[in-house]
Amino acid sequence: MSLPIGSRIGLGTWAIGGPGWRGGWGAQADADSLAAIHAALDCGVDWIDTAPLYGRGHAETLIGRALAERPGAGRGVRVATKCGWPWAGRRARPFARLTAASVRGELHASLRRLRAERIDLYQIHHPRPPEQLAEGWGELARLRERGLIGACGLCNATAADIDRLRVIAPVATLQVPYSLLRREAEAELLPYCRRRGIAVLATSPLHSGMLATGFDRARAARLPGDDWRREHRDFRDPRLGAHLQVIERLRSAAGGRPLARLALGWLLAQPGVHAAILGARRPQQVVEALTPWPELGAREVAGLSAASRR
Ligand SMILES: NC(=O)c1ccc[n+]([C@@H]2O[C@H](COP(=O)([O-])OP(=O)(O)OC[C@H]3O[C@@H](n4cnc5c(N)ncnc54)[C@H](OP(=O)(O)O)[C@@H]3O)[C@@H](O)[C@H]2O)c1
Repeated sequence: MSLPIGSRIGLGTWAIGGPGWRGGWGAQADADSLAAIHAALDCGVDWIDTAPLYGRGHAETLIGRALAERPGAGRGVRVATKCGWPWAGRRARPFARLTAASVRGELHASLRRLRAERIDLYQIHHPRPPEQLAEGWGELARLRERGLIGACGLCNATAADIDRLRVIAPVATLQVPYSLLRREAEAELLPYCRRRGIAVLATSPLHSGMLATGFDRARAARLPGDDWRREHRDFRDPRLGAHLQVIERLRSAAGGRPLARLALGWLLAQPGVHAAILGARRPQQVVEALTPWPELGAREVAGLSAASRR
């Protein structure tokens, strides 16, 4: 199946959704977000991952604006967005829903915000509620037949979910949390997707900032109260301490090179990984992570794998 994404790194826009919702990353200036999008596209990234959930439509709105500012209105840039967490009213909390009518409504709202006529890759954000999953997936297949979607994908699904859905319509992609600090996908999902020709898109490749330059205990303690990471168990002891030990070993293996680049290089060398979604929120972060670097050799990949083992 031909995939609607090109470069092996896509730009993730969770953080640029801004504050004011449960999964926000603290204060975020739109000017920084727009500059980060332009920087990524200037660095050769040709697709952007987003979701209505990211700031209740705000990330999609910013992408629509950034693309309108590009030469040729961003022609050639592909957008992947999601459905499954609609909300009713500006301040209301999103809820899980995958009925056909809800999926259609969400798609049209995303098209408006993105100023687009079609979504290149449309994904179910979470397989919830489970009793509506097949109905939602069937609707994605119909929207693809109507030309409103280029390809259909899933996020956070299990092999059992995919087995159920594949008989309704092909699954082009699966978003899986995968990084040097989170390797559970290697046991089942990566081999499963390889066998079935499903492209794995690795999410949170820097473990939401832990594998970036300068992350340490003090940085974790400084996270603002409205940044979701502040309350997450990965950013609190005892897990934080265990992660920091691994990060120290990875930094010595990196020999002074930016860990973000090595973390991305390591991911792209893993069998079955089609692409990684880098979630930057400032242009400098994009440039640091995406400045071209020589491909990692097999020995370096193995060294990083060994250093990341607990
Ligand atoms: N489908 C799903 O359920 C799902 C789940 C998770 C993620 N995703 C997708 O995957 C994307 C990536 O995940 P993520 O946002 O957790 O991102 P990530 O790439 O693991 O971490 C990005 C964060 O690291 C920090 N950072 C510091 N230096 C950086 C550098 N040089 N380059 C990049 N980032 C640097 C930034 O936050 P600070 O500066 O604040 O530290 C940035 O927001 C998301 O944006 C989203 O599109 C999807």
